[in-house]
Amino acid sequence: MENDWQVRSRFFERLETMGPLTFGEFMQEALIGPYGYYTARARIGGAEADFFTAAGSPLFGYTLANRIVQAWRDFAVDGPLRLVELGPGEGKNAVHMATRLLQLLPDEIPLSIVLVDPSEALVRRQKSLMEDFVFGLAENDRRRLTIAWETLPLRGEGDVVVVANEVLDALPVERLRKEKGWQRMMVKADGPDGLLTYWEAAPNQLAQLANRFLPIQEGTSAELCPQMHSFFESVGGMGNRVRALFIDYGITTEEWRSGIRPSGTVRAYRNHEICDVLEATPWCDITADVNWDHAFDAASAAGFTISPLKTQGSFLMEWGIMDVVSHLAESSSSEDNARTLSPTFEPQAARYAGQIKQLVFPGGMGERFLVMECEKV
Ligand SMILES: C[S@@+](CC[C@H](N)C(=O)[O-])C[C@H]1O[C@@H](n2cnc3c(N)ncnc32)[C@H](O)[C@@H]1O
Repeated sequence: MENDWQVRSRFFERLETMGPLTFGEFMQEALIGPYGYYTARARIGGAEADFFTAAGSPLFGYTLANRIVQAWRDFAVDGPLRLVELGPGEGKNAVHMATRLLQLLPDEIPLSIVLVDPSEALVRRQKSLMEDFVFGLAENDRRRLTIAWETLPLRGEGDVVVVANEVLDALPVERLRKEKGWQRMMVKADGPDGLLTYWEAAPNQLAQLANRFLPIQEGTSAELCPQMHSFFESVGGMGNRVRALFIDYGITTEEWRSGIRPSGTVRAYRNHEICDVLEATPWCDITADVNWDHAFDAASAAGFTISPLKTQGSFLMEWGIMDVVSHLAESSSSEDNARTLSPTFEPQAARYAGQIKQLVFPGGMGERFLVMECEKV
């Protein structure tokens, strides 16, 4: 197994052979290419990691399970509940959701979970976590639960619920500058471990997309995800009827227009701090705010009806996060389960206050993160 430095030099060697890349191509390479961050070094959740996500808290996954069971009831068929999680990361959220879904669903209803992640390293961690989880299940639950790993595009029949937490923000974006028309950022290797960037005229298709979704001022820059439409198309193809939940941070057309982000929103995280995208690559997570209007347009083109965005805080309150706290505090077996999965798990209801604060309150993720719910019938 190669160390971090060896992986980094391979990453740069590979970039050199690839020649100049658009920023989007570079971001794809830097995240999910053979030596990219998610492929080789992803560290999600915990003090030793690069960033925290809501997936570390059982309160999040248990509350999502409440919403998912309602979606399954709305399908109004007594068939299996089919759940797809996109970009499950370390896999904790999948375990939390599965734990609660098995409790909430009638005993005879099978639960099928499909996990989709381009990172082989994360898939290995998900598999190991899932193995332990399944091992600890009662016989009947073990029999009715199936877990599988798939890759995109994932074509399916029947009814399916899709969940994706902090995945849209990881899709590659092109950086664009508005200056006498549209220019896109290019990235190229500069020596054995350096990168340089320059701007060139954006191709027509990208310029047209920018005209529609980036109402920014002359001389400023922003970004767009060219894969947005194909991504939602592939989510739409996962079943005949699809209910999908995307939880993420994002930016609206009005915010772009207001000029509050004159250099766009692309940023990188390492050791819980914002770092320089070009210097820290491939040892950092690269992310950009989701352009909600673009995402709505893409979902709608893929046949989805989209509900108005909700804040994560109001969504979690609506779907019973406070009841989840009471349930977890009362149920010692669930506590044991969650404690095994989450080293920061604390057993008493009062001790959940920190997690509620983080997930629901405006100062934490409560307002910054939004929930996009859509359905295709
Ligand atoms: C920011 S992490 C979020 C992980 C997890 N959902 C959580 O909340 O902790 C992004 C996840 O999306 C995955 N990912 C990146 N690009 C993806 C794509 N095109 N399709 C599906 N998953 C993707 C990454 O491998 C990673 O698991």
